[in-house]
Amino acid sequence: MAFDRAFLDELNARCDILDVVGRYVQLKKSGGRYFGLCPFHNEKTGSFCVTPERQMFHCFGCGVGGGVLTFIMHAEGLSFPDAVQFMAAQVGMQVPETQADPREAQRRKRLLGLSTEAARFFHRQLWLPENATVAKYFLNRGLSRKTMNNFGLGYAPDSFSSLLNAMAEKGYSKEELLDAGLASRSERGHVYDRFRHRVMFPIIDVRGQVIAFGGRVMDDSKPKYLNSPETSIFHKSRNLFALNLARKTKSDYFILAEGYMDVIALHQAGFDSAVASLGTALTDEQVRLISRHTGKIVISYDADGAGQDAAQRAIDLLKKTDLQVKVLRIPGAKDPDEFIKEKGADAYRKLIERSESDNAYRLESIAAKYDLDEDEERVRFLHEAAGTLAKIDNAVEREVYAGRAAKMAKVTVEAMEIEVKRALSVRRKKQKSDEKRELRAVVSAAQPRDRTLQYQNVRSARAEEGIIRLIFADDSLIDEVAARITPQEFTAQVLQKIFAHALTLHRQGHRVTIASFEGYLEENEMRHLSAVVGGDRVNTANWQQALGDYIATIESCRMKSGTDDSGEDPLLRMSRIHREKDRLGGI
Ligand code: UTP
Ligand code: MN
Repeated sequence: MAFDRAFLDELNARCDILDVVGRYVQLKKSGGRYFGLCPFHNEKTGSFCVTPERQMFHCFGCGVGGGVLTFIMHAEGLSFPDAVQFMAAQVGMQVPETQADPREAQRRKRLLGLSTEAARFFHRQLWLPENATVAKYFLNRGLSRKTMNNFGLGYAPDSFSSLLNAMAEKGYSKEELLDAGLASRSERGHVYDRFRHRVMFPIIDVRGQVIAFGGRVMDDSKPKYLNSPETSIFHKSRNLFALNLARKTKSDYFILAEGYMDVIALHQAGFDSAVASLGTALTDEQVRLISRHTGKIVISYDADGAGQDAAQRAIDLLKKTDLQVKVLRIPGAKDPDEFIKEKGADAYRKLIERSESDNAYRLESIAAKYDLDEDEERVRFLHEAAGTLAKIDNAVEREVYAGRAAKMAKVTVEAMEIEVKRALSVRRKKQKSDEKRELRAVVSAAQPRDRTLQYQNVRSARAEEGIIRLIFADDSLIDEVAARITPQEFTAQVLQKIFAHALTLHRQGHRVTIASFEGYLEENEMRHLSAVVGGDRVNTANWQQALGDYIATIESCRMKSGTDDSGEDPLLRMSRIHREKDRLGGI
């Protein structure tokens, strides 16, 4: 997985961290840094910090941190090589093939090629005269030939070997079909087609590559849908059905449906921004994917209880982003597909227009549980509604919905407001204590957050951290540092690894930056590095003295004797003294 350093440097140079992060997080400038709400954990105060000068980010709340590629790995749920591919594609750079583990890259390419060939094979079957009943299945469900072609729908024949044989002719091995999730192996070791006698829905990623399939039976047998398993080219939690089409939409909202058929029916009816999660509950990664493409989402799930429960969960996830969330209710039909078939596209468009905000939807859902003509039930409704209303951050919005809830329960607005206030104060107290705990955790972080990186000797490790901070503040100091201490003298493994890599980079003529550690450090190690160097800017004016102090501390720890007088980090102490001098007008 070793990419060429010069290539990565060039890539990093073209992807300014402020630009990239700015697409996901709203940032506010403060000094030389930018702060915002961390996209990787739930918070109300911005502890997420971007330092453009170092091209790094770090969250003081949850501890995540690194350079621009690490950010993309987290935000898009990608591996390091995939994050490199992703960013390279965005800035129009070609990833040098030979660099990115050539065998793995080659293998992926073969699997993608195989999936595309398989999709072609399935699609061809659809139009063969002997499979006329299959085409008829789709036609009966209201799909046009054009739609069938647009979505590349297909048919997997009723056979254990038709795909295997067809793909063998194209030069693909059984092993490759197994790897692509297109074949299965019996207990006796016999390899056979995974999808048999099913209509096929290819799943296509944003780059337009076929990565997986869903296959549906044409009768009532079970399982109704069989999907591709997770493979090296398919991670279902990171993809959405029809995102390849929806991303090109002109409308300013996306529609989130549950099923393949819903999405296809919606597109055919002109709603070209419909997507669906892939047979699982919506994931965080899918939510981030959606919010990258649109600012507004209309949830259009099935009308049954399961669909409505799933909608509630989807709201919770979607609300973590800046997305404006609306929820559409389907009257008198089970899902969008059925509704459109019965009532038409215009009727569905009206439903979109009338779709409610997530808050109104929630109130309605709570109200549906109670008989609001019964006094006792009304009290229970008020209580539950107040809890939900207290979660609305915007005061005006809260008041509007409190008024609405009051009307629903036929109580005075004042009564409702008292109830909401009570719920609000409970919630605020809890929030405060949560944040205090979080802050305490940060302040007392004498040890790395990740227990697997624990320091054996905290005092020595602190000094070692100081040396790391020093060379990250000014990498021209490395030679001087290296002349006085070797990585082997570091007691903390993770810091030793970092220091050794810094020396290697420097000797090879590369800069020591956060970016040059990406893809080299494990994720937890990168978090730690960003915590070590991500704090206040250090003033290196008195680096010699600071370095001397660090080395003295490390040596004294090695001798298992001596104590540091103040315990304060020498470099930070220098910086502090400098700041004080500045304040006093520079003595
Ligand atoms: P639905 O049962 O609502 O199916 O499941 P549907 O898409 O509306 O299909 P039709 O109209 O009956 O043909 C919603 C989604 O859940 C996943 C599929 O992605 C499906 O589109 N699912 C459902 C499975 O993965 N496996 C199953 O057995 C059933
Ligand atoms: Mn359906």
